[in-house]
Amino acid sequence: MNPRKIQDNIYWMGAVDWNSRLFDSLIPLPDGTSYNAYLIKGSEGTMLLDTVDPPMIDKLMSQLEGVEKLDYIVCLHAEQDHSGGIPTVLARFPEARVVTTPKAKAMLMDLMPIPETSFMLVNDGDEISLGDKTLEFIHMPWVHWPETMVAYLRENKMLFSCDFFGSHIATTDLYATDEGRVYEAAKRYYAEIMMPFRSIIKRNLEKLKAYEIETIAPSHGPIHDRPAMIMEAHDQWVNGPPKNLVVLPYITMHGSTEKMVNHLVASLVDKGVSVELFDLTVTDIGKLAIALVDAATIVVGSPTVLAGPHPNVVYATCLANALRPKAKFLSILGSYGWGGKTVETLASLIPNLKVEIIEPLLIKGTPKEEDFKALDQLAETIAEKHRESGFCFC
Ligand code: FEO
Repeated sequence: MNPRKIQDNIYWMGAVDWNSRLFDSLIPLPDGTSYNAYLIKGSEGTMLLDTVDPPMIDKLMSQLEGVEKLDYIVCLHAEQDHSGGIPTVLARFPEARVVTTPKAKAMLMDLMPIPETSFMLVNDGDEISLGDKTLEFIHMPWVHWPETMVAYLRENKMLFSCDFFGSHIATTDLYATDEGRVYEAAKRYYAEIMMPFRSIIKRNLEKLKAYEIETIAPSHGPIHDRPAMIMEAHDQWVNGPPKNLVVLPYITMHGSTEKMVNHLVASLVDKGVSVELFDLTVTDIGKLAIALVDAATIVVGSPTVLAGPHPNVVYATCLANALRPKAKFLSILGSYGWGGKTVETLASLIPNLKVEIIEPLLIKGTPKEEDFKALDQLAETIAEKHRESGFCFC
């Protein structure tokens, strides 16, 4: 696409990646993504904020064809989907300074060829004036690497937030007009890369309260010209209590674990507890990550295979451990044929989760009457824990 005007002398540039389906070789992208760069033309200088993923650099270079001079190339975040195009842009504008945080400079020098003399480092709160436009750089660690910063364009009350408040959506919409779609994509993105750093994100949200923000221009997905939606959503995800919700990822091989799962789901629902169920043979792992944002309880269901948990369940459990959701309780259920260490193995995979373990239920063979009673008891225990914790049964 061609550059798109956002406000006078402020343009969206970058690339819409319609076909990408996996980010960082991990994160499913059902709706593709975009790599947003922004050009700001001040009365006394021109600045490019971020670049694009290297395979898409030709699109950005073509958008920059009409630009005669570039004074600054800002790197808000060293991950290559935003920084990877810097060497190519710098080759075209060798006089430009690469503006970034001290930590990001070190990372960039590890990742790509940028002459050390090109860097201009900015500390938290430093400003660059482009004449009639002033950019303040606000260090904002862990959104989503430790070196990240955002930039606030004071005269336009516009925040360039890089990954923060972003969403993986390929669209020709410049603005987040379809807020439901953007909300879900942003929640997926938050769950997959920022949820583990929730306590720091909380401080970052507090820090931004000092700024009057009318527009948020992230580096993925559409721009927010009504920023309340995305800021309130992040506040809820970070600061809100867990919901009266059980997230239940599972695998079944010959149906026994599935019978247990289905009975538990029915029993939980009868007791007023919501459930989100994920058969890991067909699940979009991003949907599971989204559900983990709100869940009060995680129940992992696995058959015993080769004396341990099913490998797909191991993967999902490791992912949940890495994402560090705010769940308070966890249990394990499943079936085995002759023995094994399914519970012990799964329990050893979740050192990051600050959860109370509810007594696991592992049965031999297919579930029988006493097993269904035990599942009802498990459902009752979960419901009681949720009630005691004050989670809403409304
Ligand atoms: Fe969009 Fe952390 O890179």
